[in-house]
Amino acid sequence: YRDETWPWQSAAGLDLAEPLVVLPLLQEVEASRERAFEAAPVVNGSTQPGSSRAVISPASTQTPVGQVVEAGAEAIELALATASASQLQWDRAGAELRARVLEQAATLMEQETAQLMSLIVAEAGRTLDDALSEVREAVDFCRYYAQQARRLFSAPSPLPGPTGEVNELSLHGRGVFLCISPWNFPLAIFVGQVAAALAAGNSVIAKPAEQTPLIAARAVALLLQAGVPAEVLQLLPGDGARVGAALVRDTRISGVAFTGSTATAKLINQQLAERDGPIVPLIAETGGLNTMIVDATALPEQVVDDVITSAFQSAGQRCSALRVLYLQQDIADNVLQMLAGAMQELRIGDPAALSTDIGPVIDLDARQMLERHQLRMRDEGRLVAACSLDESHTGGYFVPPQVYEIQSLAQLPGEVFGPILHVIRYGTSELGRVLDEINASGYGLTLGVHSRIDGFARDIFAATRVGNTYINRNTVGAVVGVNPFGGMGLSGTGPKAGGPNYLYRFATEKTRTDNV
Ligand code: SER
Repeated sequence: YRDETWPWQSAAGLDLAEPLVVLPLLQEVEASRERAFEAAPVVNGSTQPGSSRAVISPASTQTPVGQVVEAGAEAIELALATASASQLQWDRAGAELRARVLEQAATLMEQETAQLMSLIVAEAGRTLDDALSEVREAVDFCRYYAQQARRLFSAPSPLPGPTGEVNELSLHGRGVFLCISPWNFPLAIFVGQVAAALAAGNSVIAKPAEQTPLIAARAVALLLQAGVPAEVLQLLPGDGARVGAALVRDTRISGVAFTGSTATAKLINQQLAERDGPIVPLIAETGGLNTMIVDATALPEQVVDDVITSAFQSAGQRCSALRVLYLQQDIADNVLQMLAGAMQELRIGDPAALSTDIGPVIDLDARQMLERHQLRMRDEGRLVAACSLDESHTGGYFVPPQVYEIQSLAQLPGEVFGPILHVIRYGTSELGRVLDEINASGYGLTLGVHSRIDGFARDIFAATRVGNTYINRNTVGAVVGVNPFGGMGLSGTGPKAGGPNYLYRFATEKTRTDNV
């Protein structure tokens, strides 16, 4: 396969080592603490009434970041009616116009990098570094799907036929696409889903995560400002059980893009199957029980560096994050000792400070789930390394990273979404068992391999059912158009986000046969 859009240029971002860049950024972050942000349902360009609640910062639970008005039944109905009525016109507007609008949205987001970063830090508790990567990813998604829309949707593909018959195949939007996005990438994944659905000629109803509606509202404002017609893009904040479920069950929804837990993806699948009306696709990107296999030839310093990034960056709240580290037994003690030392250097705390490595987890539920897991691991595993938490950080949902040694992957209840890493030792003759264990988990999102033997990585890649394999590097931070991202099995349906085949699944095909 050859993608004509190669080489792909990623967004430049900001140089966080440059004082002239960092000073105004930090001023913006500080100024944003004084602002009261708002989100409300947006239908046909107008905000809709509903019940409101405060949005608080996970880094400081006494600090409100803003207010969100949640969508009621009337806003939901109006959004469905508006999006259904506008879709064909958006499809007929053509790929070039849709691509230009998305490229303009990318430009607006890039110009607002500092403000978007501040809001991501405040509402989601992500560090400045993470927030910057996220703005770049959102910008990249808009530009990449714009290019892909031009490539796939601009003109029909000619087909062969008998004399006197002209055949062609064209791609079109499916109808109203429902985009349900997560809180862990509140801008990038929100924008990625919406941009893909729009690029393919769908109208969109976006239902952001309950925890992060403010960032979604800002992204929608920028997409509308860039020229997405108001009747084509609707925003409905609210909780999944009420707003999400009402939308999924409505037969006017022609496809769902969902990123979140495996359990919720299965529930959506079931709700789509049980409703009357058309059979529609679910594009699900879910969790992972992600592993890294380190053999005795690996460079310990590099392993430790990559393990820390993979397991603890973003407080482990990435679907790609490393959960289980398999260490060849000859080097295990050495690597664990170096890892424990390196973890003492990590700074946990205010995500708005440049020196912070690890911010809070998203909310009380997340922290309590992790604390329950830690209690279980104290009985069933062995604590081998931990970071300590400064007393001053008790005002937020902070969970200091920990590493537990266990015997087998089967000891884990499934994905543990946070900064807790598990380690399993293996002997060289046990590699087959390790690979069986990874495949038997049913998850298949990311896999790391550290080795200086080419054949070792090649065999592991071939023997595992995993979507993204990273060799001699960390396992997070897939780059749009460079590392198409997504899993298989319990980890998702595919196709891969940020890859050349993603837009197909948002589209439907039409064949035209002319007797001339
Ligand atoms: N795409 C992200 C990563 O690669 C996870 O969602 O880390």
